[in-house]
Amino acid sequence: MRTHYCGDLDTTQVDREVTLCGWADRRRDHGGVIFVDLRDRQGIVQVVFDPDSGEHFATADRVRSEYVLRVRGRVRARAEATVNPAMKTGRIEVYARELEILNVSDTPPFQLDEHANVGEETRLRYRYLDLRRPEMLNNLRLRSDISMAIRNFLADRGFIDVETPMLTRATPEGARDYLVPSRTHPGRFFALPQSPQLFKQLLMVAGVDRYYQIVKCFRDEDLRADRQPEFTQIDLEFAFADQAEITATAEAMVRGLFAQVLKHDLGDFPRLTWAEAMARFGSDKPDLRIPLELVEVSDLMRAVDFKVFSAPANDPEGRVAALKVPGGGSLLSRKQIDDYTRFVGIYGAKGLAYIKVNDRTDLEEGLQSPIVKFLPVEVRRQLLDRVGAVDGDLIFFGADRARVVNEALGALRCKLGADLELYTCDWAPLWVVDFPMFERDDKGRWSPLHHPFTRPACDPQALVDDPGAAISQAYDMVLNGTELGGGSIRIHTSEMQQSVFRILGIGEAEAREKFGFLLDALRYGCPPHGGLAFGLDRLVMLMTRSASIRDVIAFPKTQSASCLLTEAPGVVDAQQLKDLHIRLRLPAAEAAG
Ligand code: AMO
Ligand code: AMP
Repeated sequence: MRTHYCGDLDTTQVDREVTLCGWADRRRDHGGVIFVDLRDRQGIVQVVFDPDSGEHFATADRVRSEYVLRVRGRVRARAEATVNPAMKTGRIEVYARELEILNVSDTPPFQLDEHANVGEETRLRYRYLDLRRPEMLNNLRLRSDISMAIRNFLADRGFIDVETPMLTRATPEGARDYLVPSRTHPGRFFALPQSPQLFKQLLMVAGVDRYYQIVKCFRDEDLRADRQPEFTQIDLEFAFADQAEITATAEAMVRGLFAQVLKHDLGDFPRLTWAEAMARFGSDKPDLRIPLELVEVSDLMRAVDFKVFSAPANDPEGRVAALKVPGGGSLLSRKQIDDYTRFVGIYGAKGLAYIKVNDRTDLEEGLQSPIVKFLPVEVRRQLLDRVGAVDGDLIFFGADRARVVNEALGALRCKLGADLELYTCDWAPLWVVDFPMFERDDKGRWSPLHHPFTRPACDPQALVDDPGAAISQAYDMVLNGTELGGGSIRIHTSEMQQSVFRILGIGEAEAREKFGFLLDALRYGCPPHGGLAFGLDRLVMLMTRSASIRDVIAFPKTQSASCLLTEAPGVVDAQQLKDLHIRLRLPAAEAAG
């Protein structure tokens, strides 16, 4: 139907006869001459109609936004005065001889170039129009390029792409399952996979040796800008490989991807232990573009006459930490400090003490602060030394349970980085390693930091003796404060796996019922193995610098996990429910409505 894409035309085609197909981006009538900006996947080109084209000129007059057109014409150079350097095709235009309207269009619900003023709801409802926008198409194209580059990288290194089932049993990754009722087994349900974790481990038992899959995963969890209920993982597993080999391969993959797609060299990724990341950045996914660090000051605050500080300073589970903002004394107004105090409140902090360092040499009068009166002069001196304060700096404080201080100051650090534009570089990747095996949940029970198939660095006995002290062989890749991927060396003996289940309060019968197939497989010559999975959507989100994961998914779900385009989830008819042996018991409000 066509000879060229609109957006691919340039001066090399001048005087060529071309046929183009696309959508009318805009039509302008310049008294006797009609300009139509014709758009396709590759871009936009200006098409000119004058009355010499007879009936086609009349047709051009009928063209409206988003009409589907086929144009035949000649490429000609634009006069110097009409060159548009902002446009890829801005040096040329197409002088049309023929125009065919292939289809008309209703007036679109929003102008594609004015999407910014349109609510996301409208964009998602008319996603097929939203996707016509060049930025969105570029995101889809980059996503495709990234997947292809990854496939090539992994295929070159001997990874085999194996598909694993979507209708399966629950895989514990910490979220709720999406369930699918079985018609043939009344009262039973499949779970959509939260990840292919167990199947990829079984593939290692099977001798596949190196597996990968670019695969959909499903998690019914609270959604945020970087989370979707169905998302895509780049999932890898290696047999007979240790942590060093696995992380080196994953790092080479991401480095290669950035070099190829963004022409950027990420260099060697630094490594931080989990404990160090929490101590210095209050986060297990620190954004290392921001040059601010938390500083431990608990020891200085043990004896001060300010309970807010001295109580957590003396509590083994407490923490008092400082966060210095260089030059913050003049950068931050009183109102901003109040705003930040409210901000840390979201994370449970009960306040946000601060000291403005006006004159370091004068420890009596030179410090401006609501709390300095509680601190003996010697403590003030040690404090300023420890954080390396100079005149003009502002120091924030967090004092509470360590978890609250880390979350609050960790988030404040990121917010200050964004608000004050403190970023020192474009990309800051790192590995976080040596995670604890378990954490205590709200009810005081142990739960795994990763998943229950992660191998601890100690033996089963030591693990049982002191679960809280056990370090796991898990690792996360972090980029610009986002967890891009994570994985671990797996448990490959039935004994260790059972110890972990026991600590997690999964009794023998339950373990058999849920994971019997895995425990069996571990007894038939399971090789040592490990792997990891990346979030493809997050990777593309970062590489396209998109604000939301939804901008890199063709048909994403909303915050409340629905699809506005198809109106899924939808109701099903009574017969379907009957076939599935399901009777509904709706919440009262919905049943009435
Ligand atoms: P994990 O649960 O850390 O590990 O997931 C791996 C990566 O998947 C991405 N991700 C998500 N992306 C978008 N929306 C979500 N709801 C979502 N949840 C996770 C993240 C994350 O780093 N089986 C293990 C991996 C392994 O041990 O090999 C797993 O699934 O980028
Ligand atoms: P107050 O004695 O409650 O008026 O608090 C004095 C200062 O300490 C105020 O600036 C509070 O914001 C701050 N503050 C109170 N609780 C905490 C806390 N848990 N961590 C850090 N600062 C706090």
